[in-house]
Amino acid sequence: MRAVEPIRWTSDGVVLLDQRRLPGEEIHHTYTDYRDVAKAIKDMEIRGAPAIGVAAAMGIALGVQQSKAKDLRELRADFANICDDFACTRPTAVDLFWAIERFKTRFDDLARSSDAGDGSVRKIQHALVDEAQKVHQERRDADERIGRFGAELMPKSGRVMTQCNAGALATGGIGTALGVIRTAVENGAGFEVLVPETRPYLQGARLTAWELHHDGIPLTLITDNMVGHFLKTGKVGAVVVGADRIARNGDTANKIGTYGIAVLAREHNVPFYVAAPISTLDLKLASGDEIPIEERSQEEVTHLAGKRISPDVRAAHPAFDVTPSRLIAAIITERGVARAPYEDSLTKLARAHS
Ligand code: MRU
Repeated sequence: MRAVEPIRWTSDGVVLLDQRRLPGEEIHHTYTDYRDVAKAIKDMEIRGAPAIGVAAAMGIALGVQQSKAKDLRELRADFANICDDFACTRPTAVDLFWAIERFKTRFDDLARSSDAGDGSVRKIQHALVDEAQKVHQERRDADERIGRFGAELMPKSGRVMTQCNAGALATGGIGTALGVIRTAVENGAGFEVLVPETRPYLQGARLTAWELHHDGIPLTLITDNMVGHFLKTGKVGAVVVGADRIARNGDTANKIGTYGIAVLAREHNVPFYVAAPISTLDLKLASGDEIPIEERSQEEVTHLAGKRISPDVRAAHPAFDVTPSRLIAAIITERGVARAPYEDSLTKLARAHS
């Protein structure tokens, strides 16, 4: 199965599939200005934690490539501004900050080994373009490995539930949660996928349903308020979701609604799995209480497809919630499967070389 490509580096610029227009239209935009890539992240033209990391990597490389700096000092100033612009786009997905840190380290290494002239500017420009493509390839490889580890944990039949979209669109590879599902199906599993629509942005209905349908994987779309009913009666053998940030103790931020699914899964003895790359771990944070939660616009709640569906009242829109690690049966990474106590298992995996 060939997964869809939400992002590509080309000689014309960074090409993004506009996820806001799916599933109705498949529109690609080619960006030659890094500010447009930053805006695309903020406006959710590209979304999903690992894909946001890839987009930030490509956007930073684009900004540095387009810089008019004449020497290292000027390039360093441009680079700092570019990184700051990306840091302000979305606060919860830690892959964004992981990518920025990785580029800062790479820039410093390259600068240390260069002279201060325009030759070093060109060398850094080329090296950061290579680095962005390396990040993208690493995401693809990580997804494949997550898929293989996670497929072992999936049931052979019945149903598997997911949440939001943790697929190819969200990573640039085969997906994390959907990578697990895709690999299990390729290995012969015969389950169907229950896809909650994921209000308010409808990543489940618009994106996950589209991806699975595209790959011929059987699915049933449900509304978010059907989750309890199906976990109680629907022969669900596992829940598998992605993550936007995982604290040291395993508490996991993911799309709003995930916490409720985890509580209901525990009530009905359904194992609840998180699938995420090592870049989604934030071991600086002791627990999920420290994870910043993005507040998005009220209009995404009061309006549906641009049409108001409520009276003119105040609406809340926390875009993520935090699932306590006690509800998580395992966290599936590209370096192996972590189980409680997560502080030990995640720290070991983070330190391990792949
Ligand atoms: O707001 P989004 O669409 O970026 O949120 C995406 C999710 O919550 C995903 O489940 C998460 O990023 C994991 S993606 C592999």
